[in-house]
Amino acid sequence: MHYRRLGRSGLQISELSFGSWVTYGNQVNRNAAAELMAAAFDAGVNFFDNAEVYAGGQSEELMGNALKDLKKPRLSYIVSTKFFWGITKGPNQVNTLNRKYLLHAIDGSLKRLQLDYVDLAYCHRPDPHTPIEETVWAMSDMITRGKALYWGTSEWSADEIRAAHEIAERHHLHKPVVEQPQYNLFHRTRVEEEYARLYEDIGLGLTTWSPLASGLLTGKYRDGIPKGSRAELSNYAFLREGLTDRAKNVVVAELAGVATQLGCSLAQLAIAWALTNPKVSSVITGASQVAQLQENMKAAAVKDKITDEVKKKIEAVVGDNYE
Ligand SMILES: NC(=O)c1ccc[n+]([C@@H]2O[C@H](COP(=O)([O-])OP(=O)(O)OC[C@H]3O[C@@H](n4cnc5c(N)ncnc54)[C@H](OP(=O)(O)O)[C@@H]3O)[C@@H](O)[C@H]2O)c1
Repeated sequence: MHYRRLGRSGLQISELSFGSWVTYGNQVNRNAAAELMAAAFDAGVNFFDNAEVYAGGQSEELMGNALKDLKKPRLSYIVSTKFFWGITKGPNQVNTLNRKYLLHAIDGSLKRLQLDYVDLAYCHRPDPHTPIEETVWAMSDMITRGKALYWGTSEWSADEIRAAHEIAERHHLHKPVVEQPQYNLFHRTRVEEEYARLYEDIGLGLTTWSPLASGLLTGKYRDGIPKGSRAELSNYAFLREGLTDRAKNVVVAELAGVATQLGCSLAQLAIAWALTNPKVSSVITGASQVAQLQENMKAAAVKDKITDEVKKKIEAVVGDNYE
């Protein structure tokens, strides 16, 4: 496993990491959660991604219990959480990044994770109804109070990220160091174009999500929805249309040929492709089974096979079938 710097921060993060969205609390119980994390640790993963809203708080509870079971030294791993949607109903509790919510939410997350602090706290989406200055001040205070070490954003526009950075600089507050965007062969524009100037200008790091586009890039949806997949879950029915998209599955079938030539699986090819982008600090993988995780971790070795020529070939297969 290679470790990359999280943008211009000093934090070293494994280039492949592991997240709990969909799986923890919906497909995976306490024992399986610990087994997945043990396999990730074995592969050299040091970053585990979570969010308050995942399975309504259960995902943080499962990860907290797994970390307790695994008894790893706190210095050896990085844990994140994210805030925006909230897990209780009412004013200041949903769809907000106001000071009241943020400084309350972190305490709930720390309790569920059974941790004294999280390493990374993300603003899970932008909040158009709260001044960015209020959010920046609250996130910086979270750090000053010792409840988070670094903070960042997820799916904020380049302008919003730059505004947050400038406000922090003006007031000598803790600056956002990382953004968490979607990045895979079908979703590239934000990372490759919209954020292009931010990497140098403000030293933005990236932890990218859904490298397999929720499983589409494994090829498993070419003949419909397979048994036991996340697309079968009734609360994730919104993913079905994208996963069974015909045009995208035609692309995936063609990519399978490239994977065969490289002697790797489609999943490994897609994850390795994301790793070839030097702006990416860590590719956050997901898995509902240990075998999937172990297969995906081998993508780190496949990365060296993605020469410029192979990369061009892969991108030519996708053509303009991406956002
Ligand atoms: N910031 C955000 O807004 C945001 C949004 C989404 C995700 N994330 C983060 O990013 C992480 C990864 O996202 P993701 O789970 O969508 O990643 P992904 O890699 O696109 O999809 C992972 C899913 O694909 C299937 N899969 C994985 N490896 C496989 C393999 N080798 N063969 C066959 N199927 C395989 C599994 O689903 P099945 O159970 O169907 O087999 C697995 O749960 C999340 O856990 C979360 O931490 C963040």
